[in-house]
Amino acid sequence: MNPWYKSPLADGGYDVADYRSIEPSYGTIEEASAFITEAHKHGLKVIPDLVPNHTSEDHRWFRDAVASPIGHPSRDRYHIVDGRDDGSKPPNDWTSVFGGPAWSQLPDGQWYLHLFAPEQPDLNWTHPEVRLEFKEILRYWLRLGADGFRIDVAHGLAKDMRYPSLGKDTGDLLDGSGEVENYHPFWDRDELLEIVTEWRAVLDEFDGDRMMIAEAWIPPTRVPKYLAAGYHQVFNFKLLKAPWRASDYRDIVEQSVTAAAEVGATPTWVLANHDVVRETTRFGLPPETNSNAWLLDGPHSILDKDAGLRRARAAALIMLSLPGGCYLYQGQELGLPEVYDLPLDVLDDPVFERSGRTRKGRDGCRVPMPWTKDGIAFGFGESKPWLPQPVNWGEHSVEAQRDDKSSTLALYEQALKLRKDWCTGSPKLDVFDLGPDVVAYRRDSGLMVVANMGKEPIEMPSHRDILLRSGDGPGKVVAVDETVWIA
Ligand code: NOJ
Repeated sequence: MNPWYKSPLADGGYDVADYRSIEPSYGTIEEASAFITEAHKHGLKVIPDLVPNHTSEDHRWFRDAVASPIGHPSRDRYHIVDGRDDGSKPPNDWTSVFGGPAWSQLPDGQWYLHLFAPEQPDLNWTHPEVRLEFKEILRYWLRLGADGFRIDVAHGLAKDMRYPSLGKDTGDLLDGSGEVENYHPFWDRDELLEIVTEWRAVLDEFDGDRMMIAEAWIPPTRVPKYLAAGYHQVFNFKLLKAPWRASDYRDIVEQSVTAAAEVGATPTWVLANHDVVRETTRFGLPPETNSNAWLLDGPHSILDKDAGLRRARAAALIMLSLPGGCYLYQGQELGLPEVYDLPLDVLDDPVFERSGRTRKGRDGCRVPMPWTKDGIAFGFGESKPWLPQPVNWGEHSVEAQRDDKSSTLALYEQALKLRKDWCTGSPKLDVFDLGPDVVAYRRDSGLMVVANMGKEPIEMPSHRDILLRSGDGPGKVVAVDETVWIA
């Protein structure tokens, strides 16, 4: 569950005003509790998204801080300090992930840190009350039955409290520039690991399988530290950023599986999430296109929708054959495309304005998903949703795909079913060389996966059965942009 807490929704709920209540426009805490109970009856786990790096500016702590005079202890829960020179310049040159300076000035002249929007002041994690309060928040949700947490901006909690200038742009969190090998004043600092260990102890106080996964944009070499500190998993965003190219896929798969095995952990896989252009569209663009820039500037005519969908389906069969945890983003199983032509005046993501209107933002992958072929919100609700759905949205709906054996929904359903038998055993992969444009490996179960990312069809290796294919072949040929599962 993306953040569902009370929030002014300046960043889709990643600006939390009260961590112990549900945003009133979504429902109530009683409904959330009933939802968790009901999900459990169906064998589903519920993992809320916890946002510890920053609160909303509407959180009582920040309100207190702003209402208190300079020097008052309530300011210490945040990073509120004097500016440079005569105080009129921000304390340093840090920039926000959403664009612009990472500091905003309070009316009395002091500055507060926000690595994201100004509505999202960063908490000071060296403060004992912050540490204590979040442990209580974890307990609150664990008592309500939460099965764990996705920890937002998990690599950002610790800051160099001397606030040194960086000498360069903080950059876009999502383009991988959050990956820092050496010293950085606010990304991926060792001090944050202590906090993780405290949280893990809280999770371990509770019965059942409770887990936490870090949303951390860190290099693979750092992952073992996060796991050793207490995380059960760390998102691996390599596939999310990879172009449709066999060499990239081969490297990512091999490195991720090996790295996880070295520390006795399971790898994770993410092809899509609510921060990135949907893969059906990403893969339909020429390889060197910057999909974020393309959203705004186009030309939209370069998009090859058919190739995009073919590749998205083929990528799904790669991911779902791999050992470890696969994270699916709602609508991915329908092959939903990015809604790239949302009019500028409906955009909700703060990225658009904060970037000086140079980045369109993430709304195009967040358009509410269609359940039914028609209806006011295509089955998403009983009124028009906060982002407009395209007129043909119903074509992608669950209803439209449910009885169609060739649909993307059917592909995901079959793959997930087969995955239980063929892909959950030993994590070992035997990699085969079937040419530079092919990704091919065998699982210990006897499942062989062949993905053709080249420009020519290839012959299928010898096999007993074809279990599943992302395209339609034909016959014993692996078509261009097709993945097959063979026994
Ligand atoms: C990562 C979330 O996925 C993104 O949607 C959000 O804007 C930032 N964290 C800030 O909380």
